[in-house]
Order: sequence, then C-alpha cells, then structure tokens
Amino acid sequence: MKIFEKKSLQKHNSLALAANARYFVQIEQQAEIPEALAWAEARGLPVLVLGGGSNLVLATDFQGLVLHIALKGVQSELTSTDTVDVLVAAGENWDELVKQCINNGWHGLENLISIPGCAGAAPIQNIGAYGVELSSVLKSVNGWNCVSSRFETLSAEQCLLAYRDSIFKGQLKDKFIITEICLSLSSEFNPQIDYPALKHALGIVDGKQAFPKLDARTVANAVATVRASKLPDPKELPNAGSFFKNPIVSTTKFEQLKARYPELPHWPMSDGTVKSAAAWLVDFAGLKGTRHGQVGIHQHQAIVLVNHGEASGADVVAFAQSVSTTVEAIFGLQLEIEPRVYQ
Ligand code: FAD
Ligand code: EPU
Repeated sequence: MKIFEKKSLQKHNSLALAANARYFVQIEQQAEIPEALAWAEARGLPVLVLGGGSNLVLATDFQGLVLHIALKGVQSELTSTDTVDVLVAAGENWDELVKQCINNGWHGLENLISIPGCAGAAPIQNIGAYGVELSSVLKSVNGWNCVSSRFETLSAEQCLLAYRDSIFKGQLKDKFIITEICLSLSSEFNPQIDYPALKHALGIVDGKQAFPKLDARTVANAVATVRASKLPDPKELPNAGSFFKNPIVSTTKFEQLKARYPELPHWPMSDGTVKSAAAWLVDFAGLKGTRHGQVGIHQHQAIVLVNHGEASGADVVAFAQSVSTTVEAIFGLQLEIEPRVYQ
C-alpha cells in the first residue's frame, strides 16, 4: 500500500476541479481497505472514498486520505436457465461493464449504458436512466462496514434504494465501503422503451417501431445516441451530469403547480407523490445556457452545470445556489443538489 502526499485530484473528478488530496491511496486489494482506514484513524484524518469522480464536487482541498477504489474483476454464475448472477468489483468501469453484459447476452443494463463512473458507486444513488434504475437488477452489495469493522453483505432490500437515494446516503453514509456488487441479469431480453426520448430515437410511433428486431444492442445504441445529444462529454466540457435531482412533491403541491404551469413534465411515483422535471424549471426560469465567470449551464440540458475552464468547486457551489434561489422564487420549490459536495 503506497500512500501519496499532496496529490492533485483534477484528473479524478469529471468537473475537472483543481483540488488536492492531502493523502491518496489506490486500493487494489480488499485487504488494503482496513489497512488504509487504520492509517487514517491513527492520524485523526477523515477519509474520502473515490470511484470515477463523476458525481462529486470538490469545493476545497481534501485534508485527509482519499481511498481510490481500483478493485477489478467480473465473475458470473448461472443461477437458473435464464438468469445469471454477475459479481462485479467496485473499481470496474460501469459503461464497459454494461457493454460486456450486452455482448454476453446478459440483459437488464441496456438503458444504463454510457453512465460514467465505477460499479461500486452505482448503488450509492441507485443510478438510473431512461426508465431503468439499478434497483431493478441489484441483488446484493459487499463491502467493508466501518462500524462493525468487518466485510459484510447487504441484500438489495437492505440498501433501501429509491430515486437517487440509498442507505449509503443515509444511515450508512461514509460508513460502508463497497467492494463488489452482485447483479441478477437475464438471458431473456425485455425491452424498457417507454421513456419518450428513447421511443422517439427508436422511431416508435403509435406502438409501431422502425426497427423490426428490437435487440439489446439496438436499445443501448439508441440510449447512447440520446444521451450524447444532451449531455456534454466531461472530457470536452467538464460536468457532473445532472446537478439537481428532479423534485418530488405531494399531489396537492403538484396540482397547484400544474394549474399555473400546465406544461410542467411530471411522472407519478408509486407512493402517490409526483416527480417533476428540474430541467424544465431551470429552463423556464431562463437560465439554460447562461454563464457566470467560469461556471455555466449547458446549452442542451438545463440541469447540467459545466466548468468552462478554471472554475473552482466553490464557484460551482455558489452558482448552483443562485440557480436554486431563482427557481425557488418562481416556483416555490427547493432544488436538491445531486452530486456529493465536499466542502
Ligand atoms: P464518485 O463520483 O467517485 O463518487 C460518488 C459518491 O459515491 C461519493 O460520495 C463517493 O464517496 C461514493 N462512492 C464511490 N465509490 C464508492 C464505494 N466503492 N464505496 C462507497 N462509496 C463510494 N447518474 C445517474 O444516475 N444517471 C445518469 O444518467 C447519469 N449520467 C451522468 C452523465 C454524466 C456526463 C456525468 C458526468 C455523470 C452522470 N451521472 C449519472 C452521475 C454519475 O455518473 C453516477 O452517480 C456514478 O454512479 C458515479 O460513479 P463514480 O464512480 O464516478 O462515483
Ligand atoms: N427539459 C427541459 N429543458 C431542458 C432539458 C429537459 O425542459 O433543458 C425537459 C424535457 O423536455 C423533459 C424533462 O425536462 O420533459 C426531463 O428531461 P430529460 O429527459 O433530459 O431528463 P432529466 O430529468 O433532466 C434525468 C436524470 C438523468 C438521466 C435522464 C434520463 C435526474 C436528476 N437526472 O434527467 O440522470 O440520464 O433523466 O433518464 O434524475 C444524472 O443523474 O446525472 C443524470 C444525467
């Protein structure tokens, strides 16, 4: 285990923020986790667990030990004639995993193609896109429990996955280091193509589809195409994907909003609440494509904040705050920041 001092994290976060880690260690074997934690504890240092850095904001230098999770490996096991369990190490690249599963005929991840980051971070906010969330395929999560000081397995139910939420953002925040996730995938392809933009990309009109054979690769390619048309590539224009969660409101609040803004996109949730579109709210507020100094809002997606060059994490947070304030003044809704902010 080699511990580096004063390591730049600029290449380790998709907003390309120029923050440093006081100490940095690459975790390549599970046994290095308790070792690294003991090292930090002996020095009274906080710990930051880092995957691909695509869902965090480094608002300042991190004055502790960064554990960069680089655990690798994918193993599969047939559990029945049509289901396969895929055990994925936390440091595996998510998008490559999705492609590998499609190539192997293991279905369920097609709509989650092109999401940046590592497999180990996928349960943290229960990644989701184009009508599918990780919760539909997650079987269990393995990792180091910092409270019990043991490696443990949590079932998917224990992970309390919800829209952009999980136990790892609540009770187990900063207390569980994910080492592996186990996915239950299927040899049967069951296309999830209800998301309007996806339907459109597949040429589906009135239930009829332009592609005679709708296979997993076709759906994944369509998702990737839609994503590329809206979301900037962090390598070209640094960003952290959606910067705000879509707000979830009570039916009463939603009815009030709908009366004033009939075009507000919305989706009913299973518990009776209603999810609306943060991007529509920011867009309506006239903020899409605007810029303040080095931080701005992407011209094709109103909730994607971008770093035009030399923005600091503090600039990004201040800009996000100003966007939230404007939206709240118009709609009376508070936007919640999606990425984890380290101040
Ligand atoms: P990081 O940014 O490294 O970490 C995020 C958080 O998870 C941190 O708090 C970190 O401490 C914690 N963490 C990471 N790994 C572990 C671990 N092994 N154990 C414990 N804690 C850990 N998200 C979606 O849900 N849907 C999308 O469609 C989507 N599109 C995106 C598009 C773009 C262009 C970008 C930049 C981001 C997008 N995201 C999306 C957000 C992001 O890709 C996901 O949240 C992803 O899962 C983050 O993975 P990561 O490895 O980069 O996590
Ligand atoms: N819209 C606007 N203006 C815009 C962009 C969108 O009015 O600038 C409207 C669209 O017309 C649509 C609605 O807002 O009716 C939703 O837009 P979109 O389909 O682009 O999705 P989103 O709600 O902005 C969410 C996720 C994305 C995920 C996509 C696809 C959140 C916070 N974001 O975005 O996830 O890829 O749906 O499922 O839930 C991420 O979490 O980082 C992320 C990129």
